[in-house]
Amino acid sequence: MEPILRCRGIKKRFGGVIALDGVDLDLSRKEITMLIGPNGSGKTTLINVTSGQYLSDGGEVFFEDTNVTDLGMHERFRLGLVRTFQIPKAFLRLTVLENMVTAAAKNPGEILRYASARSRWAASEVAATETALHLTDLLKLGHLRDEASSKLSGGQMKLLEAGRALMCGAKLILMDEPAAGINPVLAHEVFSHLRRLTETLDVTLLVVEHRLEIALKYVDSVHAMANGRIIASGSPNEVLENPVVIDSYLGR
Ligand SMILES: Nc1ncnc2c1ncn2[C@@H]1O[C@H](COP(=O)(O)OP(=O)(O)OP(=O)(O)O)[C@@H](O)[C@H]1O
Ligand SMILES: [Mg+2]
Repeated sequence: MEPILRCRGIKKRFGGVIALDGVDLDLSRKEITMLIGPNGSGKTTLINVTSGQYLSDGGEVFFEDTNVTDLGMHERFRLGLVRTFQIPKAFLRLTVLENMVTAAAKNPGEILRYASARSRWAASEVAATETALHLTDLLKLGHLRDEASSKLSGGQMKLLEAGRALMCGAKLILMDEPAAGINPVLAHEVFSHLRRLTETLDVTLLVVEHRLEIALKYVDSVHAMANGRIIASGSPNEVLENPVVIDSYLGR
């Protein structure tokens, strides 16, 4: 199957710093791909260039059939290439369900990817509500639907962000350190619920994460970065056993 995203020869400089030095990256559909690497290796910059927050200084980005290299963030967002913080922050006083439905309202043409056929004929708000019910179940937020979002834990908030991205029509979601600051038990839950998304829906995730001991068992493939380049790619075990990765990152 065609990759959903292809990056070719991506370069990005900040003054004299070469943050990305010719990055090639393919993402397979319905997979969770993880980017790892030491501080300053270029992971966040790669997410920023992919989402369109920064334009690259060289190379090309293709999303599905579209060359998005010169497109801005909003245009990529409309195509379904979504970085989670592009979605307006959850309204803490609204309920979880209300937050889901209002995310779709921002992008009414894209709501219905996961709605049932019958609901396509109903008013879009009804369809959005049906989709939101389905997604909150998948994300294990169903029991919290009518709670104010302010009651959610950090991990549940990350899941709500992913849910809201899907309500906006996301096909590829980019997440920078979703488990940062979350206790290990909940971080495992976040990853297992994200995993359920890719197993159930036509959605693909690219995740930057330092907490390998938590994240690795939930991801399909790993790319290790160092000094603005991808130095190893493969299954989690292949990358972890790669001597170059051990040397530059894992320090064992
Ligand atoms: N907006 C910016 N302005 C100037 N330099 C930047 C900017 N963003 C990133 N850099 C530099 O580019 C390099 C790559 O940074 P980046 O944030 O992509 O690393 P990272 O792999 O995400 O690191 P971390 O694991 O610490 O989050 C670093 O040298 C960083 O200082
Ligand atoms: Mg970073």
